[in-house]
Amino acid sequence: QRPIVRLLSCPGTVAKDLRRDEQPSGSVETGFEDKIPKRRFSEMQNERREQAQRTVLIHCPEKISENKFLKYLSQFGPINNHFFYESLGLYAVVEFCQKESIGSLQNGTHTPRTAMEAAIPFRSRFFNLKLKNPTSERSRIRSSNQLPRSNKQLFELLCYTESIDDQLNTLLKEFQLTEENTKLRYLTCSLIEDIAAAYFPDCIIRPFGSSVNTFGKLGCDLDMFLDLDETRNLGAHKTSGNFLMEFQVKTVPSERIATQKILSVLGECLDHLGPGCVGVQKILNARCPLVRFSHQASGFQCDLTTNNRIALTSSELLYIYGALDSRVRALVFSIRCWARAHSLTSSIPGAWITNFSLTMMVIFFLQRRSPPILPTLDSLKTLADAEDKCIIEGNNCTFVRDLNRIKPSRNTETLELLLKEFFEYFGNFAFDKNSINIRQGSEQNKPDSSPLYIQNPFETSLNISKNVSQSQLQKFVDLARQSAWILQQEDRDRPSISSNRPWGLASLLLPSVNRKSFTKKKSNKFAIETVKNLLESLKGNGTENFTKTSGK
Ligand code: GTP
Ligand code: MG
Repeated sequence: QRPIVRLLSCPGTVAKDLRRDEQPSGSVETGFEDKIPKRRFSEMQNERREQAQRTVLIHCPEKISENKFLKYLSQFGPINNHFFYESLGLYAVVEFCQKESIGSLQNGTHTPRTAMEAAIPFRSRFFNLKLKNPTSERSRIRSSNQLPRSNKQLFELLCYTESIDDQLNTLLKEFQLTEENTKLRYLTCSLIEDIAAAYFPDCIIRPFGSSVNTFGKLGCDLDMFLDLDETRNLGAHKTSGNFLMEFQVKTVPSERIATQKILSVLGECLDHLGPGCVGVQKILNARCPLVRFSHQASGFQCDLTTNNRIALTSSELLYIYGALDSRVRALVFSIRCWARAHSLTSSIPGAWITNFSLTMMVIFFLQRRSPPILPTLDSLKTLADAEDKCIIEGNNCTFVRDLNRIKPSRNTETLELLLKEFFEYFGNFAFDKNSINIRQGSEQNKPDSSPLYIQNPFETSLNISKNVSQSQLQKFVDLARQSAWILQQEDRDRPSISSNRPWGLASLLLPSVNRKSFTKKKSNKFAIETVKNLLESLKGNGTENFTKTSGK
């Protein structure tokens, strides 16, 4: 279903907002190929943040007239774009052209009064629209999907696709975040920022992780952090004569305790005052303290941390890797889905491999191709200019931020070959001796005895997969070998496109126990049933992993 993105004014933004609908049918939209020159991560973040600040979220009655709705809202100021989506009711995301329009809308809004309940007043940008005369409004509104296609449909798509390359691209297209979903993620952060600003007026709530690094799957969690740099650095370099002015502040024994105190207060605030924030959990004793909650209207499972600049930098690095070559994201999405299908990753924290680690493994593998598909982090560092210099908490996070300064790869290998080679490479990797290191792009001796050692790209003395047990690693290796073998067999025994027997990527997503009977029976009915169950697990009820409390 195509989302409705109607543009009423602001001509400058028309081309950009229509782009999604202009894709030629059958082409895979990855969101990057059509942007020349490629945009920097910081530009993209700033632009989206600014858009979100001009945007409101409105809970609407099930049946309203879209035209009347827009006409009503337009009296507060011109609208740039809008879309509807469903999540326990109908919601509209409305982006005004000017921020000031929101003030006018808020001035025309009142706090509800009910006989049974008392309201905690809050001038938020999350509204509830009621109809004065419901009977006159009958039209149903088309809404944008915030979750991927049904499992059955997706599986059928994969079965009828012509090549393994197309299968990987189809999976990417079906699972990647849509423009609307991305907008909703930035808006949710912006709404949380309004609440946090009650305590910290200059704070910024920044999204990071898979919501922004281009590897996010529809339904994945929303990672965000409270950025207090504006407050911290306020007037940092201003001195006047012999005097130096400091704020009178409370002090605590460590940075960690400061983080815990800030998050504790914000957790309370979200719980007691945040419209639509439910199930607030304060997980303050984790290695990386966080507040977890559900944002009901958007349907996002949110993880709020503080001071996560390094994680934001990791997101920027992944964004760059994802943008350099269209094969990167297609391969990462398929490997993540493959891992989820075989329970190599999980929504419960534990000894499992995380999606973040899997992405690092794919990047490393692509650096090892000949010629390489991706450059090493060290070579991105040598391309950096003075502006790119970046030290965070003593860690050198310098690398080139301008995508246009990185030469494209001369490697022309197909996705099919890369998928096969990925499984072979890691099926035979000397995990007992070597570590994975995207900084150098070469295997290094393991500095300790962790079963899986993936060097943290910026905090280089840390292992991002420290949590992974030997048995989980072995399971990964066994499945990788088995998958390489299946793909080799497929070469000899490829079914015709007219049969809907799972093949290629689809057969890799089948649980191992069912694979043998599949190849023997080739029964279509059996295939669809098994696959339905499998894909149910793939999407994990619409929410993705949130294993970040382990292994950071
Ligand atoms: P999803 O599974 O789709 O949520 O992927 P994700 O990349 O968002 O992973 P997750 O939500 O677990 O973590 C969010 C971000 O935190 C990641 O993108 C990384 O930038 C960072 N992160 C996660 N795990 C680690 C880790 O073990 N070490 C470090 N240094 N950063 C991590
Ligand atoms: Mg995440």
